[in-house]
Amino acid sequence: MNIGILGLGTVGGGVVNVLNKNQAQITRRSGDSINVTHAAVRDTTQTRICPTEHIKLTQDPFEVVNNDDIDVVLELMGGTGLAKDLVEQAIKNGKHVVTANKALIATHGNELLALAKDNSTHLLFEAAVAGGIPILKSLEQGLSANQIELVAGIINGTSNFILTEMCNKGRNFEDALKEAQALGYAEADPTFDVEGIDAAHKLSILASISFGCKLQFNQVSTQGISKISSEDIAFATELGYAIKHLGIAKKLDGKLQIHVHPTLVPKTHLLSNVDGVMNSVLVKGNAVGETLYYGAGAGAEATASSVIADLIDIIKGTVNHDILGWQSLINIPNCNADDIESIFYLRLLATDKPGVLADITTTLANHNISVEAVIQKQIDQKNNAHIAIITNLIKTSELNKAVAEIQTHDYIQEDVKIIFVETLN
Ligand code: NAP
Ligand code: HSE
Repeated sequence: MNIGILGLGTVGGGVVNVLNKNQAQITRRSGDSINVTHAAVRDTTQTRICPTEHIKLTQDPFEVVNNDDIDVVLELMGGTGLAKDLVEQAIKNGKHVVTANKALIATHGNELLALAKDNSTHLLFEAAVAGGIPILKSLEQGLSANQIELVAGIINGTSNFILTEMCNKGRNFEDALKEAQALGYAEADPTFDVEGIDAAHKLSILASISFGCKLQFNQVSTQGISKISSEDIAFATELGYAIKHLGIAKKLDGKLQIHVHPTLVPKTHLLSNVDGVMNSVLVKGNAVGETLYYGAGAGAEATASSVIADLIDIIKGTVNHDILGWQSLINIPNCNADDIESIFYLRLLATDKPGVLADITTTLANHNISVEAVIQKQIDQKNNAHIAIITNLIKTSELNKAVAEIQTHDYIQEDVKIIFVETLN
C-alpha cells in the first residue's frame, strides 16, 4: 500500500514515527505493508520530527493526489481552501482519504462524503475529533444498538490545557497558550481553540454521527474561554466546581440542542478531573446508559494513533460504509438558544453598599429565579465587591431578562458575567 501524506508537521510527522515504531504490529493487523512514498510540505529543507530519507518531499501537493502509484492520501495539512481542493481531487482520482481536519469535515463534509460515495472511495476522519480517543468508531460500532440521548465532552485540548494551567498553577492565559502552541496542540490560528470554533467543528461531527443528521456547524452556538478570569476560577473552586470548556449536543422534543461554552462542572463529576491536554467524551445511550471515554485530545502520536487506525480499516476492508449514516441523513431543527434550560453562574462587580445584594436577589426573584448559592468579596480600593451567584434551573431567556435589568443599575460596575453550570445528570 503506497501512502501519500499532505503535511508533515505535528500530525504528519507523528504518523510517520508511529508507522515506523509499530511497523510489525500494523503490518500484521492490516495484512499489508504500508509505505509512505510521498509527502507534500511548504518547506522541503526544514528539519522534521520524523525521518524523511525514504519519502519523496514535494512543495506541490497536487503531485501527491495525482500520483497513480498512491493508494491512500492522508490529508494532514489543515485549512478548508487548498485542503478541500486536494481532497476532492484525490477522491475523483479514486483514492481513499484519511484526514484529521475537523474544520474541513465540519464545513464541507456533507458534500465531500457524497463525492466519496459517488466515486466508491472512503473518506475517514477519526482523528478529527478528540485526538487519540476512538470516539467516532465507538459511536458507529460499539454503540450502534442505541438511540443516543446526549453527547457531551471536553473536546479541545488547548483550551483544557490553558484552563488547567490557570486553575492549578495560577498561570496567565497568554503564557499557557504559548506553551500549548509550542507543544503542537494549538491550531495554526489559535483563536479557533480559544474562541470555541475548533470544539464547535468537532461537536458538529459528533452530533451528526450521534443523531443521524447532516453536519450543521453553522448551527452550533459557540463561546470560547478567552473571557474566563482568575476571579471566575477562584469563585468556581470555592463553590465546589471546576470550569471546563464543554461541547454538548442533545435531542429534546425533536429538536437539536448543540452548543459549546465554558461550563461549571461539579468537582464530584469525573469530567471536572480531566486536566491538561486530555479530552473526555460522555455518551448516554438509551440501552447502554452512560459511557465515558478519556484520552489525549491533541499531540503528534496520540493523533497519529487515530489516523493509522482509519488507514488500517481501509487496508483491511473493514470500513463502516455508512460512516455518517449519510444515505439517510436528515435535517433536525435546532432548538432556539433562548429556550435552553440550565443552572447559571453569575459574577457581578458592584459598589459595596447596603441593599445592593438584596436588590440583585429581588430582581432575580421577580423573574422567578432563585439563588442556590452566593459569595461576596470586597476586592478593591474603590469599594467594589465581586459577587458570585449560582441560580436554580431556568430558561436562558428568563435569565437574560433579569440580567439586563440588573445591568441598568448604577451600582453595577461592569458587564455581568454569565456561565452555564452543568450537572450532567
Ligand atoms: P502543522 O504542524 O502546522 O503541520 C501542517 C503541515 O502542512 C506542515 O508540514 C506544512 O508544511 C504543511 N502544509 C501547510 N500548507 C501547505 C501547502 N500549501 N503545501 C504543502 N504543505 C503544506 O499542523 P498539525 O498540527 O499537524 O495539524 C494538521 C491537521 O491536523 C489540522 O487539520 C489540525 O486541525 C489537525 N489536528 C491536529 C492535531 C494536533 O494535535 N496538532 C490533533 C488533531 C487534529 P511545513 O512543515 O513545510 O510548513
Ligand atoms: N487544536 C486542537 C486541540 C487539536 O487543541 O484540541 C486537536 O484536535
